[in-house]
Order: sequence, then structure tokens, then C-alpha cells
Amino acid sequence: MTTTTVNRVALIGAGSVGSSYAFAMLNQAIAEEFVIIDLNEDKAMGDAMDLNHGKVFAPNPTKTWYGNYTDCKDADIVVICAGANQKPGETRLDLVKKNMTIFKGIVTDVMDSGFDGIFLVATNPVDILTYATWKFSGLPKERVIGSGTILDSGRFRFLLGEYFDVDPGNIHANIIGEHGDTELPVWSHATVGGVPINDMIERDPQYKVEDLDEIFTNVRDAAYQIIEKKGATYYGIAMGMVRITKAILHNENSILTVSAYLNGEYGTEDVYIGVPAVINRNGIRNVMEVKLNEKEQEQFDHSAKVLKNILAQNFD
Ligand code: 2OP
Repeated sequence: MTTTTVNRVALIGAGSVGSSYAFAMLNQAIAEEFVIIDLNEDKAMGDAMDLNHGKVFAPNPTKTWYGNYTDCKDADIVVICAGANQKPGETRLDLVKKNMTIFKGIVTDVMDSGFDGIFLVATNPVDILTYATWKFSGLPKERVIGSGTILDSGRFRFLLGEYFDVDPGNIHANIIGEHGDTELPVWSHATVGGVPINDMIERDPQYKVEDLDEIFTNVRDAAYQIIEKKGATYYGIAMGMVRITKAILHNENSILTVSAYLNGEYGTEDVYIGVPAVINRNGIRNVMEVKLNEKEQEQFDHSAKVLKNILAQNFD
């Protein structure tokens, strides 16, 4: 692991997600150093200039510059947001071929710099590309993390907060599985201030199962709705990525739903998939294995199978 005392985050890919992530990072002053790397050097340079002009308004100044792969050597975290994104009508999984090739090049260049930190991957299909990053880098599985279902869980908590009219911070509810069409809600462990949502439905006739089903459908299909309206999603995922970055750099031991490598947990292995995991300075400390009910376990198995089929087509 890198032992510098100054926290450095290197961002690869200054598109909509990467730039939003940079903006959120500087506003929350999470890292001491932030370097932006993009094939389009002008874009990286322009972003660094623009962000530096706002530095005086941030809670703490983050040293920010545009750079190249050699800057990854001393990075604690390399965040990859580069790659093609979904066009209207495309699924996340449709992007595999295009982005896998791009990732091979990026991860090789990062590792050639002497990088020995933690990879954080946001590009879709995120579970597949996180696995690819782990394979291409040769780093321990704990030090390769995907954004997984962090955003889906955020969407879920937001909508449940609206429905029950409470602060989403008081809702504990997770979406797990593929960050995509086969993801699932873990209703059996969802609580509002410690009260199981299933009990709330039973007790109070104003709350209905159909409403909850609709909430989940809106979570699952949120990206399609946003892409339809404005072409891409970026603020939500960027803020979720900052949340993970903070958990790492501040050694928080926070539990977040990220794409983590499974080695028998949830009855599956050799796949990166969205599950709750404890995140700290070493990356993924451990996966939290929630006891799913029968239906949830079936849905999870299906989701893992879809991902594993794609991995089988791309890796030996
Ligand atoms: C999202 O869920 C497209 O994966 C992106 O917003």
C-alpha cells in the first residue's frame, strides 16, 4: 500500500460522471490532492482550471491538477469513470465489449506507473468492469471496489423516505445484486427507525404492498427515466462515489452497498456484485452476509448468474 501522508485521488475520465465526482470531491474536501487524467487533455486541463478557481470557496483547499498516468504511482485511490455510457434504449450490459477494451488499456497504464492503492470503478456495466479491473491489475480483491448498488440503495432510501415521510437517513434498506435490470430489494431487512417495513405494512392500512412494488420499479428503472430526459445520469452516482471515497480515506468502517468480490458469501463465488460491505482504509474489510428470504435468495442467484454468464464469455 502507498504510505504517503498526503491523500491523493487520481480520476481517470473527466466526462459527466468524472467531472461531477471531481466537483463533489472538492466541495466536500475529502482528499488533499486530486489529479484529473483524460484522453482529452484539454478537457482535463479545463476542469482543473475551473475547479481551482472555486478552491477558495471550499471548506478546505484540495490541490488539483490535470496529469497523466505517472501521477497514479503515489495515488491512494484511482477512480475510473472513463468509457462509453448508455444511449437511450441501451442496457448497462450492452456496454461490455466497448468498455472492456478501454479498461484493459487504462488498468495496464495505471499499474505500469507503480500504483499500489485501491481502485474504485464507476463505469458500466460496473460489476463486470470491476471484475475486469481486479483481473487486469492483479491487486488483492479487497483493493478493487465497484460502485455497485450504492446509488440504487440511495434512490431506494430517498423514495422510501418520501413515502413514509421521514428523513432517508433513518431508513435502512438495501438494493443488492447487479447494478442493472436484475437487482433486487431486500425487503426482509428494510427498516424505518428500526421498525421493519413489513410490520408497518401489516399495521397501518395507509401503507400498501403495491406502493412498495412501485417504489422498487422506480428505483430499478430510474436511470432509464433520467437518460430519456437528459441523456445521462451523473450527480447521484458522483455523490455515491464520494461517499465510498470518504469511507476509504477516513478509515470509517462504514457499511455501503458496493460491488465486492464474493468467495462463497450468499452462496456464490468468483463474481463482483452489489452487497453490503464494510469499507475502510484497506478497501473492503468484509462482506456483510444478510440472511435473505427464499424469494430474495432466488432473485440474487439469478442476478449473480447473469453476471457470471457474461464473465464466462470474457474470461477463462
Ligand atoms: C445509473 O444508475 C446509469 O448506472 C447509471 O444512474
